[in-house]
Amino acid sequence: LNNGLALTPQMGWNSWNFFACSISEDLIKETANALVSTGLADLGYVYVNIDDCWSAATRNLKGQLVPDPKTFPSGIKALSDYVHGKGLKLGIYGDAGAFTCQVRPGSLFHETGDAQLFADWGVDYLKYDNCFNLGIDPKERYPPMRDALNATGRTIFYSICEWGVEDPALWARGVGNSWRTTDDINDTWASMTTIADINDKWASHAGPGGWNGKNVFFSHRGVKILVQSCDPDMLEVGNGGMTYREYRAHFSIWALMKKPILHSWFLVNCCFHELALPSFDTNVLTATHLEFWLSPYLLFNLLCPMRILFISLLLRTLISTDHICISATLCPFESFSWLKILLLMVQAPLLIGCDVRNMTAETLEILSNKEVISVNQDSLGVQGRKVYVSGEANCLQIWAGPLSGNRLVVAFWNRCSKAATITARWEVLGLESSTLVSIRDLWQHKEVKENAVASFGAKVDSHDCHVYIFTPKTVVHSES
Ligand code: GLA
Repeated sequence: LNNGLALTPQMGWNSWNFFACSISEDLIKETANALVSTGLADLGYVYVNIDDCWSAATRNLKGQLVPDPKTFPSGIKALSDYVHGKGLKLGIYGDAGAFTCQVRPGSLFHETGDAQLFADWGVDYLKYDNCFNLGIDPKERYPPMRDALNATGRTIFYSICEWGVEDPALWARGVGNSWRTTDDINDTWASMTTIADINDKWASHAGPGGWNGKNVFFSHRGVKILVQSCDPDMLEVGNGGMTYREYRAHFSIWALMKKPILHSWFLVNCCFHELALPSFDTNVLTATHLEFWLSPYLLFNLLCPMRILFISLLLRTLISTDHICISATLCPFESFSWLKILLLMVQAPLLIGCDVRNMTAETLEILSNKEVISVNQDSLGVQGRKVYVSGEANCLQIWAGPLSGNRLVVAFWNRCSKAATITARWEVLGLESSTLVSIRDLWQHKEVKENAVASFGAKVDSHDCHVYIFTPKTVVHSES
């Protein structure tokens, strides 16, 4: 969705994981205050998102949604004024069905009026759920709310929460700013690790700029798709069901899975296209990628000079700008396949799900680790993934991904029941074994190795996760 939002993963707080339906306007205000006073807002956690249960059980006589008069007596407009006054943004929750998951009125067939109401209230973010959907295809239900939000003229972050149904990567790309690929997380080690693994399946379809030089396809109805996308649900850090180390691992892996980007490149049998390409990070796409992908199609298109013109225009635009909207040229005699390129960005959010008014020092320390946050917000925006496993039931894991500036983020995650040494060999990371690498530990906040060569190992406690930034320095070529 090209509304200028989600250029970096959204960060903020959401009421659901800890409070469920026990919410009120006071809680939202106190949370906004706490985000500011703890310094979390300054670190980028700016969205204060009210989840389900904010609305009354029925619409009013005008057919409008109404805030629950007991818990939100002053209304949402007053609340958004308050939250905006703190320099933060307000999010709300709705449902693309007849009811929300907690049986409050849904927005299906009420999209226009509800979107206008949200805009009038000064809402900045809509999480749009999938309950009571009457069996209607999500592809039919989610775009109307996008259009209704756009029509209000207010810029509203559109978070699609469809729990990963129907390959959302294939349809949600132009619809929302982010979409879910998993079921709900809960506050347990088992749930957190399962969600991480489900999400990793998506990452394994690495795309252009996909790290380690590999581009992995999967095919859907004859369309080749490259995917890097996920929304692994909100954070449980600080909710009490996991240990400090487990939460540290949770935060580390979520940060590393970070900003997923979906690029899909596919052929369509059509001659006349409007290509609206969403904003993207030019770092991700290089001329080499384009050359690689376009060359076979260039041959096909030699017969049509207009096409060539378009391709060169496209190449130039792709390489030089951040925001693109292109109208393709008309080529009247063609009916053969034509390359359609969509560059898509979706986001893995860092949304805090605990009671930020009453955090332990440890919780605050985890959530405010600037170095780990900067991995999440890195401009390269390529999703890290599981690159190496060993040990019993593969419980010793290395997750890694590229960062801007030719750096790598590398996480050693010990999911075994005992402390163990995890060793990363350079080949696993896609590095020449002679490369000199300086290594910084993002939880210890210090350089731990100056000139590592060929491999690096560290002892990791059970259920803990070390996160490093690897900065390759020189490649020393062996003499032959
Ligand atoms: C669904 C969503 C959750 C939460 C609840 C609220 O389960 O996936 O994140 O919003 O609904 O009812």
